[in-house]
Amino acid sequence: MKSDPYAETDSLDDSLLQVIVTRLETRGRHPAFEAMLIDYLNAMLIDAANTVLDMGCGTGVAARAIARRRGFSGRVLGVDLSPTLAQAAARLAADEGLRDRLEFRVGDSRRLDFSDGVFDAVVAHTLLSHVDDPQAVVSEAARLVRPGGMIGIFDGDYASMTFGHADPVKGKVYDEAIISGVVTSPRVMRQMPRLLKTAGLQPVTSFSNILAEVGKADFWAPAIESFRRLVPKSGIMTEQEADVWAEGLRLDSVAGVFFGASNYYGYVARRP
Ligand SMILES: C[S@@+](CC[C@H](N)C(=O)[O-])C[C@H]1O[C@@H](n2cnc3c(N)ncnc32)[C@H](O)[C@@H]1O
Repeated sequence: MKSDPYAETDSLDDSLLQVIVTRLETRGRHPAFEAMLIDYLNAMLIDAANTVLDMGCGTGVAARAIARRRGFSGRVLGVDLSPTLAQAAARLAADEGLRDRLEFRVGDSRRLDFSDGVFDAVVAHTLLSHVDDPQAVVSEAARLVRPGGMIGIFDGDYASMTFGHADPVKGKVYDEAIISGVVTSPRVMRQMPRLLKTAGLQPVTSFSNILAEVGKADFWAPAIESFRRLVPKSGIMTEQEADVWAEGLRLDSVAGVFFGASNYYGYVARRP
C-alpha cells in the first residue's frame, strides 16, 4: 500500500477507519482547528452560497460546520473516497438534525461526475495533502464552481510538523517518519499559489496559522495517538517504534516539557 493511509481509505480495514473517524471528529471539535475553518469560510462569504461541494469530506466536519451556520440556507454535498467515511458523515449529520441540508456520496475528487459550474462554492478541508496529484483536485474544483464562485482550500503544511525530543537527531528522524507515514504531499500548501494559477483561479486571500503547543499536549495528544495507530500500517515504523515515540511524547506532556507544532494555511480563490 501507499504510505499515507488517508489516501487509501477505500481499502483500509475497519479498525483503522475507526481510528480515522475518531481522529477527524476530535480534531474538528478543537477550538483552534474550528477557528481556522471559520476564518476561511467567512472569507468565502459561504452564507451566500446555495450549493456547496465539500471535497474529501471525511466524516463531514466542514460540511456540518457550514450547514449549522445561522446565515446559511443552502445545501452541502460531501464526497469522499471512502464509503465507510461517507456513511459515517451521513449518520453524524442525521444525529445533529442536519440531514435535510447535507448529502454524502462516494467519489474521487481528482475526477468527479458533475457538470461544469454546478456549485456556488467548493471546499477542500485537509484533502490536498493526501492526494498524489493536487493539481487535478484544484483544477476539478475550478471546473465545478460557477463563474464568480468561491473556492476554499485549507491544509497543514505538514513538512513543518515537528515534535520535540530529548535527542534532536532522533527527533528529526521521527518527524520525517511520521510525516511520510500519514501524508502524501507534505509541501503542497507551498505550491498552492501556482496550483491556483494553473487552474485559472484568482487568489482572493490567504490565512497562515501555527498550531503550536508548549509544555502540555492538547490538540496534539489525540493526533499523536492516531499517528501511533496509522503509521505502522504504512510500513515506515514498526508498532513497537511507534509506541515508543508516542509514549515518549505522552510522558513529555505529563512532565510539562512537550513541544509540538505545524503550520496550517487557508487559501480562498474565485473563478473569474
Ligand atoms: C484528513 S481527511 C479530512 C476529512 C475532512 N475534510 C476533515 O477535515 O475532517 C482526508 C479525507 O480525504 C479523503 N480522500 C483522500 N483522497 C481522496 C480523493 N482522491 N477523493 C476524495 N476523497 C479523498 C479521505 O478518505 C479522508 O476522508
